[in-house]
Amino acid sequence: MRWRQRFAQRPHLSRWPRPAPKRAQARPSTLIKATNGAIYTTAQAKQGEAIYTQSCASCHGTNLQGVAAPAIAGKDFLGTAQKNGWTIGILRTIVTENMPFNNPGSLTAGQYAEVLAYLLAANCYPAGTTPFPEHATANLAHLKITEPSHLAGTPDRFGVCSVVP
Ligand code: HEC
Repeated sequence: MRWRQRFAQRPHLSRWPRPAPKRAQARPSTLIKATNGAIYTTAQAKQGEAIYTQSCASCHGTNLQGVAAPAIAGKDFLGTAQKNGWTIGILRTIVTENMPFNNPGSLTAGQYAEVLAYLLAANCYPAGTTPFPEHATANLAHLKITEPSHLAGTPDRFGVCSVVP
């Protein structure tokens, strides 16, 4: 059976593809204003890179462009995220509740925060001094996934940035 079909059959995923509530979409992102979009630290992203290699790369590819599974960074991913109206909060839910696909929920809260920090870095979001939270926050639900206005690093031809050492 195809991955997408199998995924759709999981009842706890039913919330996932739905766009974010209208209210959240309409509200301007206070988080972006407060942090200039910097919602993770470089140290977290570095840790997350190792977790990604171990727990995610087999399906999503070493360059995050997807192999058996879809792209989760760069132009293809941003296209999907924008089409579906995903926020960082939705991305966090997808990852913490459903990934790794073959062993959901198997990472610690700290490891999930780190791998999410890595995904943000790979999507060229800038690092800052505020760590990515280990628990869902209201702010994350307001932060829509778009191409960052100030790219952190130089994207490759797929639009993926590498973690700055
Ligand atoms: C065994 C394979 C597998 C592993 C390992 C895996 N994933 Fe996935 N992932 C998938 C599949 C398949 C989908 C798409 C499901 C669908 O849309 O039906 C997916 C979807 C996603 C999505 C949403 C993208 C989209 O367009 O649907 C994100 C984000 C994601 N995975 C992140 C991760 C992270 C982070 C890890 C490691 C902690 C991980 N995945 C490990 C198979 C995997």
